[in-house]
Amino acid sequence: MTAQAEIAAGYASEGAAIELGAVLVDGTVEPAAHVRIPLSMVNRHGLVAGATGTGKTKTLQLLAEQLSDNGVPVLMADVKGDLSGLSQQGTESDRTKTRAADTGDDWQPQSFPVQFLSIGTGGIGVPLRATITSFGPILLSKVLGLNDTQESTLGLIFHWADSRGLPLLDTKDLRSVIQHLTSDEGKADLKGIGGVSSSTAGVILRALVNLEAQGGDRFFGEPELDPADLMRERDGKGVVSLLELAELQGNPALFSTFLMWLLAELFETLPEEGDVEKPKLVFFFDEAHLLFSGASKAFLDQITQTVKLIRSKGIGVFFCTQLPTDIPNDVLSQLGARVQHALRAFTPDDQKALARTVKTYPTTPHYDLEKALTSLGIGEAVITVLSEKGAPTPVAWTRLRAPRSLMDTIGNDAIKQASQQSELHGKYAETVDRESAYEQLMQKVAPPQQEQQTPEPPRQEKEEPGLVEKVLGNSAVKSFLRSAGSALAREITRGIFGTSRKRR
Ligand SMILES: Nc1ncnc2c1ncn2[C@@H]1O[C@H](COP(=O)(O)OP(=O)(O)OP(=O)(O)O)[C@@H](O)[C@H]1O
Ligand SMILES: [Mg+2]
Repeated sequence: MTAQAEIAAGYASEGAAIELGAVLVDGTVEPAAHVRIPLSMVNRHGLVAGATGTGKTKTLQLLAEQLSDNGVPVLMADVKGDLSGLSQQGTESDRTKTRAADTGDDWQPQSFPVQFLSIGTGGIGVPLRATITSFGPILLSKVLGLNDTQESTLGLIFHWADSRGLPLLDTKDLRSVIQHLTSDEGKADLKGIGGVSSSTAGVILRALVNLEAQGGDRFFGEPELDPADLMRERDGKGVVSLLELAELQGNPALFSTFLMWLLAELFETLPEEGDVEKPKLVFFFDEAHLLFSGASKAFLDQITQTVKLIRSKGIGVFFCTQLPTDIPNDVLSQLGARVQHALRAFTPDDQKALARTVKTYPTTPHYDLEKALTSLGIGEAVITVLSEKGAPTPVAWTRLRAPRSLMDTIGNDAIKQASQQSELHGKYAETVDRESAYEQLMQKVAPPQQEQQTPEPPRQEKEEPGLVEKVLGNSAVKSFLRSAGSALAREITRGIFGTSRKRR
């Protein structure tokens, strides 16, 4: 038996699997020696890492294609726009032919069902929004760049609004709540919360006004995303939802927390599944270092918790980043599949990261891992995954298969056109503005100066409960509407991650 075949034997699987590529030992690839991830293990999560230009994004594309083919919906952050090529067939070339031969792949051009999404209005995809109430204080603190004290103050402010059933749909709702609490009239309320100083409330208010000034209010409001819309199939293929983030590159805190909100939403709404034959949805967190850098302890704890628990809901999470050391150890230890593309070892810091990365792999008689990790070719990776039995597979230097769809962007115009013609366009394109905390409190508090200068657009007077039920599905809003006019609205409760708990 060749060394390649010996390694590949550890990847044999009875059920369906994602074919990653073929094993290389001493520079020789063996096309029949397949490296794969069993579909039943994809909800044990994974990591795709590597220096820039080494093939991370193409690996994500390859994973997404085969998940879609197996009827598994996928949600991925398209940070640079180059994943949009999933929606078009790839082009055959000498390079794809060679790679197909090397990896035992019957490569043919193929396209996949893609839904383009954007965070907030004004982007090239169908807009995704969250209500402030649903987003919750922990995530919002990260967006606003608050410190731990300010974060806990914001938590108390949310608690005050929640306990009164005051829905905070958009940023101006939260603004009016804070303005109320810091006004003469709201002083008693502020005292009642306990532990909130009006100066800290003032800092939060300024951060919020700043966010609005930068256009941050585009991301909050209604209609809020229904997570079920991320879990669709078309012609037996899982729909790949691509969050187009190129336009948000300047605001990583916003898009990374938004992704986290989506994950928390899925966690809150999906039923327990236990062990699954294939995942219900796979979530790809590209540029994952943005999620963790500058994160509060509360935020990090919640990420760790969510990643740990979401597996039982049949959801797989793959983080993609340059260095595995970008990911906190508690999260890293939850990731069953490792696809490590080439690492650089130029600086002493690089070398430290390399040594730490080597330690996260099982021992292998076939490779000197430090050497291997720095000499991998483009589109090659050192891989270990979990076998069907849940044990780590042998370390495999792998030449990866080529994606079957286009390895390039399709361009913003094509993305815009596709999203305007998509199923979700009619449901989410237009922002809905209905009565909420802002209007409730505006009856009590004098409008702030800013409001007088730029009058609010006319507000809808009448609610349409049918639309509310259908579009929002939001317990907070429903309970508010049910009790509108009465003094006591239903309390809003919060689940993991401080996002509001849904009762669907
Ligand atoms: N599996 C593959 N099959 C064929 N070609 C590949 C493969 N992986 C990478 N390549 C080639 O390498 C190039 C760079 O890959 P990719 O864009 O995935 O790198 P990356 O690690 O995402 O880089 P960055 O960090 O800059 O985003 C691709 O444009 C493609 O030409
Ligand atoms: Mg990339």
